[in-house]
Amino acid sequence: MKISASVLAAPITSLERILPNLDPSAVDYIHVDVMDGNFVPQISFGESITGEMKTLTHIPLDIHLMVAHPEKEVPKYFSLKPEFITFHIETTHFSVRLCELIRSSGIKVGISLNPSTPLACIENLLPYLDLVLIMTVDPGFYGQSFVKSGFEKIAKAREMISNYTILLEVDGGVNVNNIHQLSSLGVDICVAGSAVFKTGDPNLNAKTLKKACEVNFQIT
Ligand code: DX5
Ligand code: ZN
Repeated sequence: MKISASVLAAPITSLERILPNLDPSAVDYIHVDVMDGNFVPQISFGESITGEMKTLTHIPLDIHLMVAHPEKEVPKYFSLKPEFITFHIETTHFSVRLCELIRSSGIKVGISLNPSTPLACIENLLPYLDLVLIMTVDPGFYGQSFVKSGFEKIAKAREMISNYTILLEVDGGVNVNNIHQLSSLGVDICVAGSAVFKTGDPNLNAKTLKKACEVNFQIT
């Protein structure tokens, strides 16, 4: 299991201290939640702050765009050479073209679906994808609870992508109590915001999440 640490849950004014201390053996990706106040009501950060984050770490960036008109936003991130750029299927009618554009820039492309969006919406997009990001909360905030329908949808997604080389990522409400099951369902990458940054040491928290994939322990 790879851990993509969502810096949305970290105090932004402390990122200069936090980011350089993240250990690449614990945190595999830096998950950057870009929110535009349009597709989601919240506003987080854009390409400028993301660029500053990049100067503070060698861990690859995993950019999650929660924005309307992703066609306009996506190219702003090309020069940052992230590992992934993921946009939402709910935000564009031209997803094939956008996937091709991202791939032609040498960046892996991901598609994300809100909890209520059916998997059938991405069926025709599979040949153009490197990653599917299943949202297990409605996007906007960190610290929400994993939606009940999440496990069933993840199992279906795993089955759906089985003939493709596509990574499966889950975002929202991941913690030590559910990551073992996510791992059993074949999830490749878990986004973790509060579970990494809310309390204690982020590296230790990320390592604990990985350990919980191997041993099924529950913390109540
Ligand atoms: C939600 C974001 C998530 C969020 C995850 O809109 O896409 O990445 O920060 O935070 P946790 O792990 O606390 O649910
Ligand atoms: Zn996210």
